[in-house]
Amino acid sequence: MKIIVIGKSGQLAWELSQLIPPEHEIVCLGRNDIALQSVTAITECLQQQKAGGVINASAYTAVDKAESDVDNAYALNANAVGNLAQACKTLAVAFVHISTDFVFHGDKGVPYLPDDEINPLGVYGASKAQGEQLITKLYPERSCIIRTSWVYSTHGNNFVKTMLHLMRTKPELGVISDQIGSPTYAKGLAKACMASLANAVTGIHHYTDTGVASWFDFAVAIQRIGFELGLLDKIIPIKPITTEQYPTPAKRPNYSVLDKSSLTNALPELTFSHWQAELHTMMTALKAEKS
Ligand SMILES: NC(=O)c1ccc[n+]([C@@H]2O[C@H](COP(=O)([O-])OP(=O)(O)OC[C@H]3O[C@@H](n4cnc5c(N)ncnc54)[C@H](OP(=O)(O)O)[C@@H]3O)[C@@H](O)[C@H]2O)c1
Repeated sequence: MKIIVIGKSGQLAWELSQLIPPEHEIVCLGRNDIALQSVTAITECLQQQKAGGVINASAYTAVDKAESDVDNAYALNANAVGNLAQACKTLAVAFVHISTDFVFHGDKGVPYLPDDEINPLGVYGASKAQGEQLITKLYPERSCIIRTSWVYSTHGNNFVKTMLHLMRTKPELGVISDQIGSPTYAKGLAKACMASLANAVTGIHHYTDTGVASWFDFAVAIQRIGFELGLLDKIIPIKPITTEQYPTPAKRPNYSVLDKSSLTNALPELTFSHWQAELHTMMTALKAEKS
């Protein structure tokens, strides 16, 4: 099957491009290769590419900027997603789309199930929620929505790289300890997307690495592994702080752990790893890329 990945330069798209599935070909298209604002242009492009399946890894992911750039956030996270679903329906090809833990409010206290009520706190979450709703309305029969959280990769910008930079340049750090979620290495997420497409999984599911953490826990682990691998040459004090002490334009859920059991049931052979093991794997790869 020829799989078209939308979003060429993002973290997930890059990890998808690194997979070499034996019976599939992967082609990544960037914003200059496909006009996501037009169903006709998308349909023609996918037809020309002889797409056998589509994975949408593009998104407006700047959570804080989205609060003041609402139209652009909705254009990519909602309208373009609806257009992709419509084009996939016209061509009868399977569609895998990635969504976010930020569709949830964060007050549940136990892991969110795929069919739990959504109630986003900000524009990013609301626009992603609308993208989900458009897919469910337009093309439920061959679409799969995978919600994930706290994504990082060796490629692109993310919390791990930001922390490593700050740990090299600051005397101490304060990191939020009252937001709880699950860090996720994009490499495993890429495998989950491929497996969902190859096995014709439909509906809404969750994929993250296992275990839970606060951003503070995540930062402490980054420093410990960074020092152990020689990516950092010193240890600095890291203090836990509250969300109130670090105000941001967008509100974020306090608790956004996702229950993964529906995907485990749909794909029994898919393996999940603990976030600390995946973080070690990613940081080892980061070190290899630097040397
Ligand atoms: N990062 C996270 O922590 C996180 C958490 C939960 C869910 N997710 C979801 O996971 C998926 C993958 O995220 P990611 O971290 O890999 O994202 P990312 O690294 O921010 O990449 C986003 C991609 O979207 C594309 N894009 C941005 N603006 C565009 C536009 N106007 N037109 C067309 N393409 C545009 C970019 O394309 P160009 O190549 O043109 O720049 C880039 O390839 C997204 O659906 C995201 O919502 C991410």
